[in-house]
Amino acid sequence: MDKIRIRGNRPLAGTIAIGGAKNAALPLMTASLLTEETLTLCNIPYLGDISTLANLLVQHGVSIKWKGYRPNGGQDGRAVELTADDITSTTAPYDLVRRMRASVLVLGPLLARCGKARVSLPGGCAIGTRPVDLHLKGLERLGAEIELTQGYIDARAPKGLKGAEIAFPTVSVGATENLLMAASLAEGETVLVNAAREPEVADLARCLVAMGAEIEGIGTDRVTIRGKPRLHGAKHRIIPDRIETGTYLMAAAITGGDVELVGADYEPIATVARTLEGAGVEVSQTEAGLRVRRHNGRLTGVDVMTEPFPGFPTDLQAQMMALMTTAEGAAMITETIFENRFMHVPELCRMGANINVHGASAMVRGVRQLTGAPVMATDLRASVSLVLAGLAAEGETVINRVYHLDRGYERVEEKLAACGADIERLGDGS
Ligand code: EPZ
Repeated sequence: MDKIRIRGNRPLAGTIAIGGAKNAALPLMTASLLTEETLTLCNIPYLGDISTLANLLVQHGVSIKWKGYRPNGGQDGRAVELTADDITSTTAPYDLVRRMRASVLVLGPLLARCGKARVSLPGGCAIGTRPVDLHLKGLERLGAEIELTQGYIDARAPKGLKGAEIAFPTVSVGATENLLMAASLAEGETVLVNAAREPEVADLARCLVAMGAEIEGIGTDRVTIRGKPRLHGAKHRIIPDRIETGTYLMAAAITGGDVELVGADYEPIATVARTLEGAGVEVSQTEAGLRVRRHNGRLTGVDVMTEPFPGFPTDLQAQMMALMTTAEGAAMITETIFENRFMHVPELCRMGANINVHGASAMVRGVRQLTGAPVMATDLRASVSLVLAGLAAEGETVINRVYHLDRGYERVEEKLAACGADIERLGDGS
């Protein structure tokens, strides 16, 4: 299994290209199941999770062509064409779904297009129990009959789905996405109340409009969808990855560097940028994207609470915590989205951080210097937080289980090395 070795304590300087958003690309790929025509997605990132979903879609009968897609190359002109002209299977098997929870996003499209779908229940994962009850209740409101048998969701709508009002008791990105897709092929009008407002949800809605759906209220918490009997093909450009952007903002900040993030957007990351500014980081917009620099001296501790968009994203909580480990003073970091998203804490402590967890909050008391250590993590964002800590630490840090990083960060070590980091990937046996 690959590892990453970092010799830290040197500032990053240079440019980093930001890729297409993983969490936009995944639902967009499943939207291809809604039409027999070709859906072309530009700016597709090269990531483990994208390949995992592609394998699942192929299993459903989708033909997939990668364009300008070089594993080690630039992002220009990179696209994927997905054609679901003949859906050969409406079952998403356990073996594929268990590898990635986002696989459950095939449920809405398959049910709406084929009148049936059998999708393995994803089960819990490292960051929480993560049920899918909101997806299922929403689909039932659209008239689906759902049974849970032998670990599978068995959903049927032999006469098709019918529009309805669905009020979500809590905000769910995935449930909003599944219902947006299902409602696009349902008869009549669907209103989603308390819908997720994440930019990735809005990106999906814009693509569905390009495919012929009628959707109002995109990017708000009340979205109205007027379904169509059929959707058509479209070409859509995936938005830049705001979580990759935020991660590299913090990488530059933790090392006291000066980095330009090419292709990054300010608006989706505005809350994060304002929080960083409060800690002493300067984030400015440039023609090509964003520039990040640290003001002179140490950062200052700032409190952070994760919330649905436009609040501070849970997917940047671990990275923010790494940043706060060397800030002056204390920072209280509260996680409100997932119940078990502090796995990075003991690993950061092994690098010299001073963190105490009390329930959903972690009190981080800044130390002057982290020290390198062998570490590992059990999810994507926790892993990258250890990379950030390693960049700032004195001495050598070796991060195990790099496959987590590869699920969501493209060529992380190459991007950081190009900015002067002493970082390398060690293959098996190293
Ligand atoms: C998406 O997960 C993202 N994944 C996650 O990114 C992200 O952390 C999360 O949204 C929150 O922003 C993708 O987009 C592929 P939710 P999702 O449904 O859709 C509870 C990463 O690192 N809930 O908004 O699964 C749930 O348990 C990943 O890239 C229910 O109770 O998240 C959680 O506590 C990790 N019942 C909360 O809602 C449901 O039916 C929010 O989950 C659905 C969710």
